[in-house]
Amino acid sequence: DMGGHDTYMHKEIHEQADAVDRALRGRIDDRFSTVHLGGLNLDARDARAVRRVKILGCGTSYHAGQIGAQMIEELARIPSDAEPASEFRYRNPVVDPDTLYIAVSQSGETYDVLAAVQELKRKGARVLGLVNVVGSAIARETDGGIYVHAGPEVCVVSTKCFTNMVVSFALLALHLGRIRDLSVADGKRIIEGLRKLPAQISEILANEEQIEKLAEEYADAKSMMFIGRVRGYPVAREASLKLKEVSYIHAEAYPASELKHGPLALIEPAMPTVAIVPDDDLLEKNRAALEEIKARSGRILAVAHQEQEKADHTIVVPKNEDELDPILMGIPLQLLAYYTAKAMGRDIDKPRNLAKSVTVE
Ligand code: M6R
Repeated sequence: DMGGHDTYMHKEIHEQADAVDRALRGRIDDRFSTVHLGGLNLDARDARAVRRVKILGCGTSYHAGQIGAQMIEELARIPSDAEPASEFRYRNPVVDPDTLYIAVSQSGETYDVLAAVQELKRKGARVLGLVNVVGSAIARETDGGIYVHAGPEVCVVSTKCFTNMVVSFALLALHLGRIRDLSVADGKRIIEGLRKLPAQISEILANEEQIEKLAEEYADAKSMMFIGRVRGYPVAREASLKLKEVSYIHAEAYPASELKHGPLALIEPAMPTVAIVPDDDLLEKNRAALEEIKARSGRILAVAHQEQEKADHTIVVPKNEDELDPILMGIPLQLLAYYTAKAMGRDIDKPRNLAKSVTVE
C-alpha cells in the first residue's frame, strides 16, 4: 500500500521523520548524556579496548558506513574507516583482535557482506551488525549490534534506511565517545541535535516543490558532478549513486579538494555540479571551490545552510550540530533524484538491472 504516494520511493522518503524518531526512541539517557544500545553486546571494558573501527558494507550502506566512520572518529576519537565488503573479503585482510568490525546492511542478506562477516568470525574477530531487517542472516551471524528500525523498505533504491543507518552510527559514536573521552557537554550537545532531527527532516520535505522545479531544470544534463569535503564527501557520493540508480544520468562524486587535480577539466555548462556546502569550519574552502567552477562557466546547485552567492540555485537545509549535518544534507538530493527520474519517465521503484537484495557473488 503506497498510501497516496505514486511510488514506494516517494513514500519512503516521506517516512523519514518517523523512521528517525523510531531509531531514537527509548535509547537516549539524559542522566549520563549518552545512549543505551541494548543488543550491542559490548561492555564498557571491551569498548575501551577498541583501537580501531572497520566498517564494511555495499552500495548505499557503504556510504552510510563512511559517514559512520567519520562520526566515530570525531566523537570517540577511535581511528575508523569504511570499505566495500566485497573488496575487503577478496584481499586477504589483516584481521586484528583490537579492531571492532561493523557490518552494515539494510537487508541483512547481502552475500558479500555476509561472506566478509563469516571470514572475520572464522579468524576470531569481533563483529557487530548495523542492520534493518530483524533476524536476517547478518543479524544472526554477528556478535551483537544495532537495529536501525527504519521499517520495511520496498523501493530498490534505499532512502530511509540510509538515513536511519547514519543516525544509528551517530548513536554508536556517542555511546563509544561517552565511554571514552567525550565530555558531558558534548554528549548533551549531540543529544540535543539528535532530538531536533525529525522536525528538521519534516522541514526539508516541506520544501519539495522547489526541488521538483530544480529537477526539471537539471534533467537535461548528460552527466553531473557531486562534490563535498570531509563530512560532505560521502553525502555527495550517496547523492550521486541515488541519481544514477533512478534516472540513469551519469554522475560522479569527488572531494571538492580533488577538483583541481583533474576533474575540473570536465566542467562546462553541460556538466552541472551539485555541491554540499555545510556551514562548518570548511565553509570558506567550499566557497572557493564554487568560485573555481563558476570561473569555468559551470552550473552549480548548492545544498547549504545559507544561500550561496556563487551558486545558480541553493537548497537551504536547517543547521544541526556539525557532526550531524550529513544526516540532513542528503535528504533533498533523494528528492532531486526522484523528481529527475520522474521527469524522465523512469521505473522508479524497480530501476533496470538492479535487485533489492544482492544475494549472489
Ligand atoms: O541490503 P544492503 O544494505 O546490504 O544492500 C546493499 C546495496 O546493495 C544497496 O545499498 C544498493 O546499493 C541500493 N540499491 C542502494 O540504493
